[in-house]
Amino acid sequence: MKKFNRAGLLAGGIAASLAFTACNQQPATNTEGGTSAAAPDSTQTSAAAMPTSSSFGKTNAGAEAQLFTLTNAHGVKATITNFGGTLTSLMVPDKDGKMGDVILGFDNVSGYQSPEFLKSGPYFGALIGRYGNRIKGGKFTLDGKEYTLAKNNGPNSLHGGKVGFDKVVWDAKPGSSADGQTLTLTYNSKDGEEGYPGNLAVTVVYTLTADDALRIDYTATTDKATPVNLTNHAYFNLNHGVGKDILGHEVTLPADRYTVVDATLIPTGELKPVKGTPFDFTTPHTIGERIGQVPGGYDHNWVLNNPSGMHAAATVYDAATGRTMEVTTTEPGIQFYTGNFLDGTLKGKGGTVYGKNSGFCLETQHFPDSPNQPSFPSTILKPGDTLKSTTIYKFGVRK
Ligand code: BGC
Repeated sequence: MKKFNRAGLLAGGIAASLAFTACNQQPATNTEGGTSAAAPDSTQTSAAAMPTSSSFGKTNAGAEAQLFTLTNAHGVKATITNFGGTLTSLMVPDKDGKMGDVILGFDNVSGYQSPEFLKSGPYFGALIGRYGNRIKGGKFTLDGKEYTLAKNNGPNSLHGGKVGFDKVVWDAKPGSSADGQTLTLTYNSKDGEEGYPGNLAVTVVYTLTADDALRIDYTATTDKATPVNLTNHAYFNLNHGVGKDILGHEVTLPADRYTVVDATLIPTGELKPVKGTPFDFTTPHTIGERIGQVPGGYDHNWVLNNPSGMHAAATVYDAATGRTMEVTTTEPGIQFYTGNFLDGTLKGKGGTVYGKNSGFCLETQHFPDSPNQPSFPSTILKPGDTLKSTTIYKFGVRK
C-alpha cells in the first residue's frame, strides 16, 4: 500500500507557506466599503483593499463575535466569523451572473450556539480540530502512553471533542496579500485540552483570490507529539435556497478507493476499490443517482489518487445554476458527507429549513482514526516540525 507522511505534505505546502509569509497584515478598517483597491476591470465592482468587519452578536459566554467580509474585484464575497473560524456565507455568480450564497449557515452567532444546533452537531462552516472526524473509542496510544479523549459521538470522539476548534473564539486579523484579501486566524490549544497532548499553536489563513477561489492555509506547531487533522466543515449547496436539496449536483472524486467503515463510522482499515460500487465518482454522477444504495447516505473518506503536492480532490457542477466548484488540496483524503443527519429542525439564513441532503461537505483531511491505524498516512505532529496544509475551493460557471 502506498504510504504518505507529514514530511511529504510539508513539501506540498511550500507554495502555501510562501503565500503565507507574503501576507501583509494590517489592522481592520472597520468601515463599510473600506479603502478601494485599483480595480483591474472598471466594468466590475471594485474590491476594497482590506476586508471589512462588523458585529456578529454576542457568544453564549458574552464575548463579541465579529464578522469579516472578504471581497474580490468580481464582487465575490466570503464572510467569516472569529467564532469557530466559521465560513458563514460565500456569494458567487451563477451562469447569468446572478450572485447567490452557496453556504449553509445562520445570520448571527446565536444560530451557531443554539441548543438545537449544538445537539445535532452539524458544524456548519467551522474550522475543525484538533482532530477532524472520528477517533475510535476516544483513545489512542502515542510513544507508549494512552490518551483518553472526550467521547461526543456514541462511543467515539468526533471533530476534536466536546469543545473543538469550532466552538472557540479565534484571534482574527484582516489583511491583504498579492492574491487577495485575507483573514488570519490564530488559536493556541492548551496541553491536555480535550485530552490531547501538547500546546498546539494553530494559524489558519483564508484568502479570497482574484480568480474566485477561497483558499485555506493551515499551519500548526506543537511542544509535544500530538495527532492533528485540520479541516473546514462548510456545507455547500450551489443552488442554496428554501426547499432545495443537493441531490441533482454532479460530483467527481478522483479516488479509486475509499476507507470502509464499521457501524459507528470508524474505518476498518480496508481501502476498498470504488469500481462497480455507488462510491465510484471517478466519472461524474449526480449525488442522488445511487445514494439510495448507500445506507444513510454518503459519509465516507475517499482516498485521493496522486496525493503529492497540490492535487485534485473534487469537482462539483449544478446544472440548475451552472455553478461549478473545484477542490484541490495537499491532503490525502476527502470526507464526502451529504448532510444525512440534517432533519429539518434547523432554520438558517433567509428562513431556509435545513432538511436531509440540503447541503454537502467536502472535508479535505487525513483519514479518520489514523492515530489507531498504523497503515494510514500519519497524523502525528512532532515538536520542531510544522504542519502545513492547503485547500482551495474555486468557483466558476458552465454555460
Ligand atoms: C462526519 C459525519 C457527521 C458530520 C457532522 C462529518 O464530517 O463524517 O458523520 O455527522 O461531520 O458532524
